[in-house]
Amino acid sequence: MRRLAFVLSSLVAVAGCGSKSASPSTPTYWSAIKPLADQKCAPCHSENNIAPFTLSSFADFKDHTDKVRVAVAAKKMPPWPPGKGCSDYLGDRSLSDDEINTITSWIDAGAVEGNPNEYQATVSNAPRLSRIDRSLKLDNAYTPTLKPDEYRCFLMDWPETETKYISGFRANPGNANIVHHVIAFLAQPADVAAYEQLDAADPTPGWVCFGGPGGPNGGAGARWLGAWAPGSLGTDYPANTGLKVVPGSKVVMQIHYNLSKLDGVPDQTSVDFKLDPTVQKEGIIQPWTNPEWVQQKTMTIPAGTADQMFEWTFNPSPYFGYITDNVIPTGEAVTMWSANLHMHTRGVSARIEIQHADGTRDCMLDIPKWDFHWQGSYSFQTPKPYAPTDKIHLQCHFDNSDSTIARNWGEGTDDEMCLGGFYVTK
Ligand code: HEC
Repeated sequence: MRRLAFVLSSLVAVAGCGSKSASPSTPTYWSAIKPLADQKCAPCHSENNIAPFTLSSFADFKDHTDKVRVAVAAKKMPPWPPGKGCSDYLGDRSLSDDEINTITSWIDAGAVEGNPNEYQATVSNAPRLSRIDRSLKLDNAYTPTLKPDEYRCFLMDWPETETKYISGFRANPGNANIVHHVIAFLAQPADVAAYEQLDAADPTPGWVCFGGPGGPNGGAGARWLGAWAPGSLGTDYPANTGLKVVPGSKVVMQIHYNLSKLDGVPDQTSVDFKLDPTVQKEGIIQPWTNPEWVQQKTMTIPAGTADQMFEWTFNPSPYFGYITDNVIPTGEAVTMWSANLHMHTRGVSARIEIQHADGTRDCMLDIPKWDFHWQGSYSFQTPKPYAPTDKIHLQCHFDNSDSTIARNWGEGTDDEMCLGGFYVTK
């Protein structure tokens, strides 16, 4: 590969021999790497952040060139679970093939520093939360203890006295060294008592909640209000849309603590919401799974199976009014804005797509290499229309080959889920 790159660059040099410079300009740290790292690495590889080391200087890169080459070439870094070729998302953190090539060939050519005056700062176009109308913060700092990962849910009061629409979301990790993701779930007034019981049953603040928030219906019905992962500045929801929260609701804040870098430290995370008293179109982040898997426990993953697949194809349109409390009308064309997928640790890959009546498909989200530790919600660059004759296809693959117990739907570490979700409006 190295030789090929060399041959190619000589060809380019020959082809370019009419121009003034005799050799093609080799990328340097200042000309090519720092601008890229500012955008794609620094959001996590900076001081007091989730990544184990900083990547903010030339010296930082010099210290880690071998690891960087491997991690970048293998597409392990930056973490970006969605597969290519499914859909384009806002705030895509992944590197293009050209960018990967820039980094690897820079390292192969000896990781030259170059001159600081070659540096041109880049402007980030990452989505962000534009306004904060309500913040909810943990009452007290909490020190997680379960290593390497603790998933803990906290029940937060929702102080609004009138109906409000959440039109943007962000989490602010209290200790960015250990907060790996935050998902806010809606506890509707009718479900609050069930969550209060979970809270009361655990002597420490909140409760351990490995998969979803727990609560009614095995955690399958809890609506997301927002999801945050390191590096994100939060996001506004599609213009003039929002998620309705009525007074008397609560928010379940699920925090994934990863203690592999640091432990024994307290955290006091908060979440920020942008709120509007009215919106043109009410949205909903609708959880999506086959109810039989949940209620009849038909999603059995036998011990020792290397590739157990479950799939479900269903058109929600005739039932939309029923399943969304009439937020989404039955039998009408609607719009999909984002998607998420959720499995536990036996998950290998998952996909959710729209199947049109003419046989064509529109991929919403494809996670080719499931990583339980990097979960999120992905907003489409172009919203997707959903016709009353379309269907949603959900598919999950599981590997239970090194286990002597069968798995089935549930909330625990030994249980599994195959759950999708999407932000949908009229
Ligand atoms: C969204 C956060 C995030 C971003 C963005 C990110 N990283 Fe990381 N990186 C991490 C975390 C967390 C770890 C440690 C845990 C792990 O390996 O997953 C890590 C680990 C690494 C490692 C060590 C891997 C190993 O095998 O030991 C390298 C090398 C690395 N990152 C390089 C990069 C580079 C280069 C970029 C930018 C092009 C980048 N990362 C962007 C979060 C991030």
